[in-house]
Amino acid sequence: MNIRKGRLAKSMTSDAAEFSSSLEFDRYIFEADVKCNFAHTLMLKEENIIDGEIADKILGALTKLRESGFDALEFDYSVEDIHMAVENYVTGMIGPDAGFMHTGKSRNDQVATDIRLALRVKIIEIQIAILDFIKNIIEMAKKHTETIFVGYTHLQHAQPITFAHHLMAYAQSLKRDYNRLYDTYKRVNLNPLGSGALATTTFPINRELTTKLLGFDDILENSMDGVSSRDFIAETVFDLSMLTTTLAKIAEEMVLWSSYEFGLIQIGDDFSSTSSIMPQKKNPDIAEIARAKSTRNNGELINILTILKAIPFTYNRDLQEITPHLWNSIENSYSILKIMNDMLQTVEFNEKRGLELAGANFATATDLADLMVKEKNIPFRIAHKIVGRVVSEAVENDLAIEEINTEFIDKIAIDLDIEALNLENDLIQIALDPVSNVTLRNVPGGPSPKMVEVAIKNLEDFVNGELSKKDI
Ligand code: ARG
Repeated sequence: MNIRKGRLAKSMTSDAAEFSSSLEFDRYIFEADVKCNFAHTLMLKEENIIDGEIADKILGALTKLRESGFDALEFDYSVEDIHMAVENYVTGMIGPDAGFMHTGKSRNDQVATDIRLALRVKIIEIQIAILDFIKNIIEMAKKHTETIFVGYTHLQHAQPITFAHHLMAYAQSLKRDYNRLYDTYKRVNLNPLGSGALATTTFPINRELTTKLLGFDDILENSMDGVSSRDFIAETVFDLSMLTTTLAKIAEEMVLWSSYEFGLIQIGDDFSSTSSIMPQKKNPDIAEIARAKSTRNNGELINILTILKAIPFTYNRDLQEITPHLWNSIENSYSILKIMNDMLQTVEFNEKRGLELAGANFATATDLADLMVKEKNIPFRIAHKIVGRVVSEAVENDLAIEEINTEFIDKIAIDLDIEALNLENDLIQIALDPVSNVTLRNVPGGPSPKMVEVAIKNLEDFVNGELSKKDI
């Protein structure tokens, strides 16, 4: 069936046809298109809009096509898109009666429906992959609730934490990335079918029925909005951009921590490469590529928003150019998620180095100031001032943390016109000890092993609860 023959005197040039074809990316919506045609035809039959026998023939041909798959379709340059290819297939099977399938339906509402159907499957696939990643992070965290390590702000030593606490920060970001997709899904899973080209149809179609048959939560209530809205795509791609930003940040830390200078982790050899000239090299290439590939999603998001911003209501062919950016970003996100998950599981943490860094460079100084507040009831700002001076003098005189005692502190306090504090040396050493720094941080959300175990349990419950809801 060549729809051009009615209105147009000439076929498109083959270059123009190729230029405007969406077939390259339409394979993503093949199954959805068959499903959509099936539901629409069934509805036309149920509502007695088309003849029951003809409907059955159409449904039979569509079933055959679903079984044979995408490769059963034939394409030449006269076939603009998947919708025409599917219609041609049905025509080939049952003859011109195939044309009844298109009663009260346009490719405009059809493509919008197809994208939503195909996308919701992809969203769930990505969500499952996120949950799997979180599960693996949790397993790793369980082994490291007492593995001391230093947390950074401004990439400078800040305060001691544990490796588990850091890993759980990754997991919490990923949980939000998961939930964002969950929210978006609600706006994806709405039915535009029945919107027609833009203004519905005079046939008494039953939109509730197709909504039910296709598993949508509701209809899109305005037909013009139904065929032209693509904000659900922009929103999904933003979610994916955010997800791959989380993944890129993790990748960035893998790169940093595996350096000689940090010396905190070893990435598995199977996720590293070497140099063609420097025999000693072990390079974190997979993390680097993941970090770089994440930016593709940002590019895709801008492409989508930029196409969207200047097209008038309702359907414009420009919309076709949005969809490939969605599929690109889905594939990109999935592959980064998968490889980062596999790579992280090979990471070995250097516990000795973690403890060494946590005890070095005055990462425990906050707790010394806190001790002054607790023991001597002086305002924190005064304590901050004394400890700041303690650290600067210790750095100047190359003193180790163990050399900071009550005498040293009081000399400084007096020098600053604050009276001597007479802190017990034992308490000073406890305050400066990275392990007690961590163990005593027992407030919800804190790094103490006890609190991290609570956080692990909560997140584990969340992941298991979500996984039990997904049954595709
Ligand atoms: N390939 C088109 C797309 O992706 C399908 C809709 C075509 N509609 C039209 N009026 N040419 O948007």
